[in-house]
Amino acid sequence: MTMFDDIAKVLISEEDLQTRIKALAKEMNQVYSDVEPPLLVCILKGAFIFLADLTRHLTFRHEVEFMEVSSYGKSTKSSGVVRILLDLETNIEGRHVVIVEDIVDSGRTLNYIVRNFSTRNPASLRIATLLNKPDRREMEVPTDFVGFEVPDEFVLGYGLDYAEQYRNLPYIGILKPEVYTKD
Ligand code: IMP
Ligand code: MG
Repeated sequence: MTMFDDIAKVLISEEDLQTRIKALAKEMNQVYSDVEPPLLVCILKGAFIFLADLTRHLTFRHEVEFMEVSSYGKSTKSSGVVRILLDLETNIEGRHVVIVEDIVDSGRTLNYIVRNFSTRNPASLRIATLLNKPDRREMEVPTDFVGFEVPDEFVLGYGLDYAEQYRNLPYIGILKPEVYTKD
């Protein structure tokens, strides 16, 4: 048995992910080619693979930083409480900032981060998210670069986890229901 046996369906293929990420990078290249080098803030852990692929298609000078916030833990539902586990090392005052996120679901996480960053007075603040689940939104989030809209289902792979596993799946998929009920 491998992790692939737990997957019910592939929602977004490896090829479709790569094609869309290249297109997103192209959009970003137009926005950032003539400004001071922006800071890309990767939200750990889910966005690490998206960032790694995205950054290699960017042609403008930029820096990368990592921030970790608490999210679901082992559950598939948001607790609604956002905590910063790892904060930025860089002062973002006067900087162009792009938050790189895996998925916007209820919007609680990004709503919190955007409000937090805004108090630090960046020159601009935009959001690049691989996935967007608009049906589940509870809090407003201004998404600027969006890879794919996904239906209201728990998705995983390509950085996104279930109980910290399956992040290494090369595609975005959905688990078989019996996997959730095992423990
Ligand atoms: P939000 O605060 O509800 O928008 O949730 C954001 C975080 O929850 C994301 O950064 C993900 O880590 C996690 N998340 C939300 N939906 C999913 C999902 O369908 N699969 C895996 N993780 C998810
Ligand atoms: Mg997660």
